[in-house]
Amino acid sequence: MEVIIQSDASTISLYVARLIRDLVRRKPNATLGLATGSTPLLLYRELIRLHREEKLDFGSVTTFNLDEYLGLASDHPASYNHFMRENLFKHINVAPANIHIPDGQIEGAEVLDYCRRYEEEIRDAGGIDLQILGIGSDGHIGFNEPTSALTSRTRIKTLTERTLQDNAPFFARPDEIPHHVITMGVGTIMEARHIVLLAFGERKARAVAETIEGPISALFPSTILQMHPQATLLLDKAAASKLQRRDYYRWVFDHKPEWQQIS
Ligand code: PGA
Repeated sequence: MEVIIQSDASTISLYVARLIRDLVRRKPNATLGLATGSTPLLLYRELIRLHREEKLDFGSVTTFNLDEYLGLASDHPASYNHFMRENLFKHINVAPANIHIPDGQIEGAEVLDYCRRYEEEIRDAGGIDLQILGIGSDGHIGFNEPTSALTSRTRIKTLTERTLQDNAPFFARPDEIPHHVITMGVGTIMEARHIVLLAFGERKARAVAETIEGPISALFPSTILQMHPQATLLLDKAAASKLQRRDYYRWVFDHKPEWQQIS
């Protein structure tokens, strides 16, 4: 697990955008795992700029999103399908056929088959090369809420009250927020070759401290990232504020070879 602390979200987002740029230039048919929420917004803005101004070509890239609310049409303003279209896909050249976001309108027992097929599609695409993650204030990754099996696969989950509260600002009325979602499982996420988690703000500080310095536990699903061979956690100062070994992570980063550092 590599922990990188930087002053602000903007520096981190530019760095992650460059990681993606380098991956896509090295491997034009790369498979990206994408996240929604407020955390990746600056990252997506920079990817759009790289596409427009530096001709970064997403034409052969495949994408898989982590999750979607069940019961929301894809054009609902709070759906993750809508979020991805507005904040990234309509501005870059990913082929529509290569975009995968769970369908929020799957119903009843069909969900099981649908989730199995989502997993197959990830496998058929050769697995995820780079997975972008945010983190919930309760330690969820994707929508894998506390007590999610750490080996879980794509499936339906029920959101905690805390997540409903955290996500309320994205909805016009609190009673509009679906209680159920489809999410990649923790095990699905862990198969990505490189996991890049971004966390910004004081609200994430406890979840970040548990993830890096706490015991691995299904009560904090993000703690499983300690077992991943290539997980990079990029934190702004506020998100890093509850880490006991903050100085050590900074020291390690400062002593990395120059070519590995954030510029
Ligand atoms: P946020 O959500 O980016 O809106 O903070 C992250 C998450 O819940 O995973």
